[in-house]
Amino acid sequence: MYTQIEITTVCNAKCFYCAHGTLAHKHMSWECFEKIVQTEKSPTMLLLQGTGEPLLHPLFWEMTVYAKKRGHRISIITNGSLPINPHSLFLLDEIGFSLDTLDEETVKKSGRTSPSQTIKHLLTCYSVVPKKIKLYAVNYGQDLEPLKAFAKAHNIALTIQNLQPKKSYQAHYTTQPLPYVTFQCSYLEKEKMRYYFVDGTQAPCCYMIDVSKALPTKQIQALLAQKNVPSCCTQCGELTGVKRLYM
Ligand SMILES: C[S@@+](CC[C@H](N)C(=O)[O-])C[C@H]1O[C@@H](n2cnc3c(N)ncnc32)[C@H](O)[C@@H]1O
Ligand code: SF4
Ligand code: SF4
Repeated sequence: MYTQIEITTVCNAKCFYCAHGTLAHKHMSWECFEKIVQTEKSPTMLLLQGTGEPLLHPLFWEMTVYAKKRGHRISIITNGSLPINPHSLFLLDEIGFSLDTLDEETVKKSGRTSPSQTIKHLLTCYSVVPKKIKLYAVNYGQDLEPLKAFAKAHNIALTIQNLQPKKSYQAHYTTQPLPYVTFQCSYLEKEKMRYYFVDGTQAPCCYMIDVSKALPTKQIQALLAQKNVPSCCTQCGELTGVKRLYM
């Protein structure tokens, strides 16, 4: 069980596979963040990111200090475009860098920021806290071997995420529709995570993307019980049996 907080929907990249461009771009207010952290009864892992670049929040480091003082562990995934001050690294327990390929041309086409910048910032952090660094790639058909070799050479865990079949991600690409293999979602059955959208609205998972389309948990459960998949869950891997991550 962990808590994910979408502290911002602002981003400086335009990854073709991300729904970022379809959302209103805003930062979570300090008051909203404080309230969410205060509702956590015991220390937990806080993932500070949603559909946006977490390091762009002007109060990002103040947020980590506030959450750390309350005993929480902090994890982020960043696009690596911004430097992280090595003296602040003690505030983060896991630092994930998104890097799909080392090839500048492929990256340019994908809309991601420069991989050389990401690698530079990653290696600066790696030189101080090597065990906290993780790599995340999206597999959209590019050659993943050089990236795998880079991760292996530095002994960094690399998670490769399949391009999402879920419709809420697909503003700029489409995948073949898949049959539903179940109408039961493990995120609804067990409390696996608490997700907070940038406006503070709570959801049972991080896959709905757009708060204006997200339904309350009970309503989703009632619809799924009737084998009726609501639009916030269309083609979700939970229901189509698509594994989202592989290492
Ligand atoms: C939404 S981003 C937010 C953090 C930060 N902006 C970044 O890119 O690392 C979190 C992760 O979701 C991944 N992601 C975004 N859209 C995706 C999609 N359609 N399929 C699979 N992964 C996706 C990104 O590559 C990134 O690793
Ligand atoms: S995946 Fe991350 S870096 Fe890319 S557009 Fe989405 S939020 Fe920005
Ligand atoms: S989007 Fe997917 S994981 Fe989230 S509630 Fe719907 S089916 Fe479950």
